[in-house]
Amino acid sequence: MNFTPSEGIAIASPAFWSERWVKHEIGWHIPTANPVLVEYLPKLIGQPYPAVDEHDGTPQALLQARTKALAEYVRPAPSQAGFLLPLCGKTIDLVFLARLGFRVVGIEIVEQAIQEFFQENNIPFKTEQHVLHETKESVKVHTSTDPNMNISIFQADLFAVTSKDVGALHFSFDRGSFVAMQPALRTKYAVTMTRILAPTARILAAMIDYEEGVMAGPPFNVTNAAIEQAFSPVGSQIEYVEVKSNKTRFSFEMLERIVIIAMPK
Ligand SMILES: C[S@@+](CC[C@H](N)C(=O)[O-])C[C@H]1O[C@@H](n2cnc3c(N)ncnc32)[C@H](O)[C@@H]1O
Repeated sequence: MNFTPSEGIAIASPAFWSERWVKHEIGWHIPTANPVLVEYLPKLIGQPYPAVDEHDGTPQALLQARTKALAEYVRPAPSQAGFLLPLCGKTIDLVFLARLGFRVVGIEIVEQAIQEFFQENNIPFKTEQHVLHETKESVKVHTSTDPNMNISIFQADLFAVTSKDVGALHFSFDRGSFVAMQPALRTKYAVTMTRILAPTARILAAMIDYEEGVMAGPPFNVTNAAIEQAFSPVGSQIEYVEVKSNKTRFSFEMLERIVIIAMPK
């Protein structure tokens, strides 16, 4: 996918993302819950993986079997633990996590993405104004009115949000978020995540790593060193979980680096 913005629009700026949504150049969006989230959610929340039904071994069947197993396993004891999806777009992960009983908070700057999320998933919602605690900016918060789906999406710049706005969030899935930031913003991003998340919260992150210079980004390539450079100064512990080869979206060699980042106390 070509992410080259129109002339005059700074790469990965709000205008850049808005243009992506208006033109519907959203190649990152997938129509299911993210397989990385489905595979590693038990590890993230510190539970063993539930037994998965027999399946024919295709990635699609595995995803379905795991999704079903998780629904039966986690749902009977909904934790209502807070779960953050930063830069959420219209990801189906919001629905997947809410069905499992989490209190899900998304942060997304483009209103069109949020409207499409609620409409395409047939989730009734209300929109209210919220004054951000730190910047005092008034932003919209779009909240599901379905009592079985605890989802709120803050229509805001991630960098302006703090835990005082979103309440206690214990877990996060970072996909298309850290990798979407210009490298110069990575340290600020790590600091922002510590300010939004509860102390000791854990982030499951799917980073993307490809040869420097193969494309302009976003997504930008993220090495182990880049993750450490951003998150170590804020006192986070980084656990490298798996590296997968990811050739589905791009023609060139691309790695998907799965990490769990434990935020400090
Ligand atoms: C690459 S997409 C990833 C979306 C989603 N995480 C997914 O996996 O489908 C990045 C999203 O972040 C939004 N975004 C970019 N910068 C943002 C910011 N500073 N604050 C909030 N949202 C932002 C964009 O509008 C876009 O929808």
